Amino acid sequence: MNLDDIITIPDPKLRERSKRIGHIDESTRRMARDMIAATLDWEASREHEFGAALAAVQVGQMDRLVVIRDDFDDKANKSFSVFINPEIVKAEGEPTEELEGCLSVKDIYGSVNRYPKVKVKALNLDGQPVRVTATGFLARVFQHEIDHTNGIVFVDRVDNPRKLFRLESDGKFTALNPTETPTKS
Ligand code: NI
Repeated sequence: MNLDDIITIPDPKLRERSKRIGHIDESTRRMARDMIAATLDWEASREHEFGAALAAVQVGQMDRLVVIRDDFDDKANKSFSVFINPEIVKAEGEPTEELEGCLSVKDIYGSVNRYPKVKVKALNLDGQPVRVTATGFLARVFQHEIDHTNGIVFVDRVDNPRKLFRLESDGKFTALNPTETPTKS
């Protein structure tokens, strides 16, 4: 897979719930590998952006599987972790707003409220249960990706069009013209 396999809004699939994965096999592993390849290919095409994570729905597969970068600070580190049927079991702290982007929402960033700490349970590619306590940016990424598995795109959580920005080719953000505001489903 490459960046062309990544679907973008308003593709209706992005507003559908994905299905739980009941059986992990070679096709599951292949899907994860394909998603990682697509994310890295996308990143290589985007001078000012970082491919932090991807949910299977973003390559049109309605399965509850997400891949998350292991190191958000080092583009040279291209390793990812795979989370199958991920669920937030506990969210803690006062939600805070930070700018967020998405591979399925081209050039648009928006301020979204997210919890600073979440406990996540999931399965790994071997089918073993994993539990992660995530804080900071990783907590935000889990909330964003698990939203994808539930058919929610970050722009659906932006409560004011003034909180949306366009990433320009020089890497700077500009205010979004109200007429180009992405529509909710
Ligand atoms: Ni996204």
